[in-house]
Amino acid sequence: MVEQPRGPFFSLDGKVALVTGAGRGLGEAIAYRLAASGTKVGVFDLDGEKAADVARNCSGIALQGSVTNEEDIERALRYLQEQFGPPHIVVNNAGILGQVAPCWEVDAAEMRHVLDVNLMGTFLVCRAVLPGMLARQYGRIVNIASIAGKEGNSQLVPYSVSKAAVIALTKSIAKSVAGQGDVTINSISPALLETPMLEEMPAETAQSMLDKAPLGRAGTIEEVAALVHYLASNESSYTTGQCFDISGGRASY
Ligand SMILES: NC(=O)c1ccc[n+]([C@@H]2O[C@H](COP(=O)([O-])OP(=O)(O)OC[C@H]3O[C@@H](n4cnc5c(N)ncnc54)[C@H](O)[C@@H]3O)[C@@H](O)[C@H]2O)c1
Repeated sequence: MVEQPRGPFFSLDGKVALVTGAGRGLGEAIAYRLAASGTKVGVFDLDGEKAADVARNCSGIALQGSVTNEEDIERALRYLQEQFGPPHIVVNNAGILGQVAPCWEVDAAEMRHVLDVNLMGTFLVCRAVLPGMLARQYGRIVNIASIAGKEGNSQLVPYSVSKAAVIALTKSIAKSVAGQGDVTINSISPALLETPMLEEMPAETAQSMLDKAPLGRAGTIEEVAALVHYLASNESSYTTGQCFDISGGRASY
């Protein structure tokens, strides 16, 4: 006998979320989507003014800081806890594109910086929130990776490496927390999106990416936010350690 489903579905009522890099672009769209679904959102960004604007728009709180800085993360989590409570949902979205060049032209300092933000930032935030999630036996972490991390991109070497590492970090953490309450962690690999990051990319790099997508267009930040919403909900409880592609049909593996 199958039970009749009763909505509302994917409700996030009463939940608290931390979204990093939420001052603009995809993170901003994720903050709005989660807030519209009932979540109280901590809008964490390096740019405090942008974080404040977004927080105002979604009745959240602004948390200025860098994901590379452990003290900033701790301070942000303390303030979030005081204002709304500890996070049920954490979206590690902060990321930078880094140098666009073949490997032999990449500065070592640039390689380290991109790994610091994209990989270490994600690692440090996960490390800071996981003990609380395990103690409360509930948590949803969503890490924003990229299709570059699966395919490798000849002109985006630090970026591709960092995003591959985010996918592996996600799988590793998922295995270490599995079976300890309802704590899941997944990654998402978008292909090209309509965001300010797109404008920073050389036109030919962007076009070559568009040509690879069977749907023939860039994705929208709202489409990615909808996938984050699912993964952030109670209802995604049987998926962990996965990498979800959202690529206009480009990823086929
Ligand atoms: N735009 C795309 O086509 C695309 C495709 C695949 C994956 N992604 C990933 O999606 C995420 C968001 O991308 P976007 O296009 O919205 O980027 P964006 O550059 O528009 O926004 C990124 C935000 O992160 C913030 N940020 C940067 N460094 C930070 C730090 N150290 N600490 C805290 N905040 C920091 C920035 O201030 C900015 O507000 C990134 O992880 C990116 O790699 C983007």
